[in-house]
Amino acid sequence: MDGENAKTSVQVLCRKLVIIKNEPGLQWLIGSPFFPPFTIASTFRCIHTLPSNPLAPDYAKESDDLRTLLLKGFEVIGALIVGNNPDFDQIATEAIDASCKLRNFISGNVEGRNSINLDLVGAVADLNTGNVRFFVSRLGNSTRFESVSDVLYEDQPEKYIWERGCILRCELPVKLPVYCPVDSPKEAEDMYLCATDVIAARLKDPHVTYMVETLHESSTEVPHPVIVRGVELDFHADLRNAEADAKSLACLYFCSESKDIQSFTSIEENADKIQVSVLLNRSENSPKSAAPIAEYFPALKEAKLLVVDYKLEVLCYAAKDLPLKQAVSKLIIPGLVDQLCTMKNTILPNLLGQQPLKTSYTFIVLQLRPYHFSPPGFLHPISVIYELSYGETEMKQVNVRRSLHLRLGLPFDRPLLRIANAINLFTLKDSARSNSIWKGSSLLKDVHLGIPSSGVSGGIVSMVQGSYEYHHYLQDGFNDSGWGCAYRSLQTIISWFRLQHYTSIDIPSHREIQQSLVEIGDKEPSFIGSREWIGAIELSFVLDKLLGVSCKVINVRSGAELPEKCRELALHFENQGTPIMIGGGVLAYTLLGIDYNETSGDCAFLILDPHYTGSDDLKKIVNGGWCGWNKAVDSKGKHFFLHDKFYNLLLPQRPNMV
Ligand SMILES: *[C@@H]1O[C@H](CO)[C@@H](O)[C@H](O)[C@H]1NC(C)=O
Ligand SMILES: *[C@@H]1O[C@H](CO)[C@@H](O)[C@H](O)[C@H]1NC(C)=O
Ligand SMILES: *[C@@H]1O[C@H](CO)[C@@H](O)[C@H](O)[C@H]1NC(C)=O
Ligand SMILES: *[C@@H]1O[C@H](CO)[C@@H](O)[C@H](O)[C@H]1NC(C)=O
Repeated sequence: MDGENAKTSVQVLCRKLVIIKNEPGLQWLIGSPFFPPFTIASTFRCIHTLPSNPLAPDYAKESDDLRTLLLKGFEVIGALIVGNNPDFDQIATEAIDASCKLRNFISGNVEGRNSINLDLVGAVADLNTGNVRFFVSRLGNSTRFESVSDVLYEDQPEKYIWERGCILRCELPVKLPVYCPVDSPKEAEDMYLCATDVIAARLKDPHVTYMVETLHESSTEVPHPVIVRGVELDFHADLRNAEADAKSLACLYFCSESKDIQSFTSIEENADKIQVSVLLNRSENSPKSAAPIAEYFPALKEAKLLVVDYKLEVLCYAAKDLPLKQAVSKLIIPGLVDQLCTMKNTILPNLLGQQPLKTSYTFIVLQLRPYHFSPPGFLHPISVIYELSYGETEMKQVNVRRSLHLRLGLPFDRPLLRIANAINLFTLKDSARSNSIWKGSSLLKDVHLGIPSSGVSGGIVSMVQGSYEYHHYLQDGFNDSGWGCAYRSLQTIISWFRLQHYTSIDIPSHREIQQSLVEIGDKEPSFIGSREWIGAIELSFVLDKLLGVSCKVINVRSGAELPEKCRELALHFENQGTPIMIGGGVLAYTLLGIDYNETSGDCAFLILDPHYTGSDDLKKIVNGGWCGWNKAVDSKGKHFFLHDKFYNLLLPQRPNMV
C-alpha cells in the first residue's frame, strides 16, 4: 500500500457498475484519454474465457470484439473482478494484469509492454454482498497498487461526457477489385490482403485530404468546412496531452456554444456532431463524395475478377479542445483501419468460396455493415458489424445479438440492438419525418407526454416505457363508434410492440382482428364483419397469435377493488412497461401509468380513452380529458371505476427475445 498520494480518487460515470450477477466473472472498465485518470465511463463483461476458468480471458477473441465495439476516444482502463476470493492482493494483481494484457492485444502489440506507462484502475466486487473495492495502479505496475476509498459517483454523467466532447463520424465506401488466378486461391488471398493494406496506407498518404464539417441540422449560420491535408497529420501526437495549437482549429470550432445538456434525451439530439469525409487526391475536384478506392493489379495469368464492395462507417469521441488534425490522425484513421481489418477477417474465408464461378467477372457485395447503438444505460455509442445476408431473425444473427446483450449487461427480452434501433446521426429530423410517411402512419404518438401528474401527494409515478400510437373511434374512415373501443385499445398495444421493434406487422384492422379470432377457433365465421365487441381475453388470444406475446390477466369483481392492485400495476410498468388494457362492463380503456402513494393508498390512473371521435388534435384530446390522470375517487367523491362492474386487466409481457 502506498500512502504518498492520499487524494487519489476513482470517478464512476456509469450508473450500473457491476453487471455480472451471482457468479464469478470479469468486466473490463472503460475510460477515455480525454478524462482524468481513473474515470470509469462504462463497463463490458468479458465473455470469452478459457473453459477451465471464468476469470481467465481469451485475449485474442476479447480484443477482436472490443476493437470493433469501442469507439476510438474510449479505451480499456482497467478491470473489475467479481469473486469471493478473500485474498484481495492476489485478485487486484490479476485485474491489473488482465487489463494490461488486453490493452496490448487491442493495440496489436501482443508481446509488448506499452501499457506499462499508463495509470490503470482495478476493482473487486464481492460475489455475496456486491460491495466494490477500488484500487489504482500507477504506470501499470501490477505489483504496486494503492487502495482507493474516495469514490465519486457522477450525478449528471451525460452532461459530463457531452459537454467535454463531441462525436465525429466518417463514412468510406470501399471497392476492391481482386484478380484471382484460377489455379491459385492462395494468391487471390494475398492480393486481397495487399489491396487492403494499400487502402490503409492511402489514408495516411500525404496527398490525401480530409474535409471536416458540422453535422448540425440548424438552418442558421454553420461554420465553413475545414480541410485537413495529409501532410499536416501527426501520428505521434499524444491524446492525453493534446496541445492546443494556435495555428490549427479544434473540434470546438464545430460545436455549438450554448449547449444545455441539463435535460439529456439522446446522443442524436444532444451531442455535437462532426462529419469527416475522405477525399482522395484524384477526386479533389469533386469534393462532394468520398470516392471509392480502386487498385489496379495486372493479371499475369488466367484470372477472374472479384470486386468486393462494402462501406466503412466509424464514430469517434473527441474532446472539444482536440485539434482537428489530431482528431483525424489519432481517431478517424485508426478507426477506419481497424474496421477495414475486421472486414478483411470476415471476408477472407468467403472470398475463396467464390472461386469456382464460371463467369469472368464476379461482383461480390458482402452484406456486412457497421451500425452504432446507444443502448439504455450506456453513456457512449457502441459499434457493431452485422452480416445481413440473412434476415435479422435468423438464428446466427440472434446469437450475435444475445452475446452482445450478455457483454453489455442488457436484458434478454428487449430488441435493443436490432437495426431499427441503430442511431442515425445524419439528418435526424428528415429521417424521422420520412420514416413515419414510409410506415404510412400519421397518428399521434405519446399523447400523455406533458400532461401534469394527478396530485397524489407523495405518489410515485410508474409509466409506459417507450412510444405508442393513439388509436381511437372513427379512425381509418371506419365508424366503430359504440363497439370498437377494445379493438382500438388492442391497436394501441400493437403499435407499442411495433414502435419498440418487437414486430414489423401492420396494425390489424377490426376485420383482421376478427379473422384471427375465427382462425384460432375462438369465434364462429359469422363473427367476421360483425360489430360485436371483444374483451381482455380475446385481446390476449390475438396478441399471442399475431405477435407471440403472452399476457397476464388480473380480474377484480368490482371497480372498488382496483386500487388494491396498484402495487402490482406499478411493478408492471417498471418491469414490462407495456400499455395495459382495462375492460369493464362494455367499456375498454388503455392504462398508461399509475401514480401511487403506498403509505396513504392514494392513487391515480393515466387513462388513454379510445372512445374519442374527434380529429387528431393534441390540444383537443388533452383539454377534453381523452388522455389524462384520473383519481380512483375524485375531489367530489366520484368513483372513476364503477363499483357494480367487474374489470379485467390485460398486462402484455415482453417476449423473451433480442
Ligand atoms: C513494480 O514496482 C515494484 C515495487 O515498487 C518494483 O520492484 C518493480 O520493479 C516494478 N515493476 C516494473 C515492471 O516496473
Ligand atoms: C496528387 O498525388 C500525386 C502523386 O500521387 C501528386 O504528384 C500530386 O501533386 C497530388 N495532387 C494534389 C493536388 O495534392
Ligand atoms: C404518502 O402519504 C402519506 C400520508 O398522507 C404522507 O405522509 C407521505 O409523505 C406520502 N409520501 C410517501 C412517499 O409516502
Ligand atoms: C357512426 O355510427 C353510429 C351508429 O351506427 C351513428 O349514430 C353515428 O352517427 C355514426 N357516426 C359517423 C361519424 O358516421
